[in-house]
Amino acid sequence: MADKDETTRLVAIACDHGGFALKEALKSALSGVTWLDLGTDSAASVDYPDFAHKLADAIKDGKAGCGILICGSGIGISIAANRHAHIRCALVHDVTGARLCRQHNDANVLALGGRTTGDVVAKECVEAFLSTAFEGGRHQKRIDKLGSC
Ligand code: RB5
Repeated sequence: MADKDETTRLVAIACDHGGFALKEALKSALSGVTWLDLGTDSAASVDYPDFAHKLADAIKDGKAGCGILICGSGIGISIAANRHAHIRCALVHDVTGARLCRQHNDANVLALGGRTTGDVVAKECVEAFLSTAFEGGRHQKRIDKLGSC
């Protein structure tokens, strides 16, 4: 994921009402990223699985290379995203987690909690996620074993 075109890569982003404020804050704070915003578009109540599935489909269709998902806790939306075999979604709360989910897990989606993670930490998590490469090697073997049950 870390590459020369890092700032121009299309990054899908989606959320439910619990993540709406953080989604907007991230888009403003990371203006060098080209976002594919899949909603939601207000703080009105919606269902997080709808947005996780929308983002997973966008990645499957090649409309974005990776994604950011946000709900109130990050829990529900990450569970929903991980139902898709092509998604490795990591719910993180700090920059170390955001870096490691790329280095060790080749995560293609980062999940954040809009009600649990502050804007500054969330921004730093997204920056780490977008700029860190997968290490491959022994980690690839483990990813190959994830399969689907
Ligand atoms: C919505 O109130 C809340 O349940 C949702 O955003 C999320 O936290 C679920 O995991």
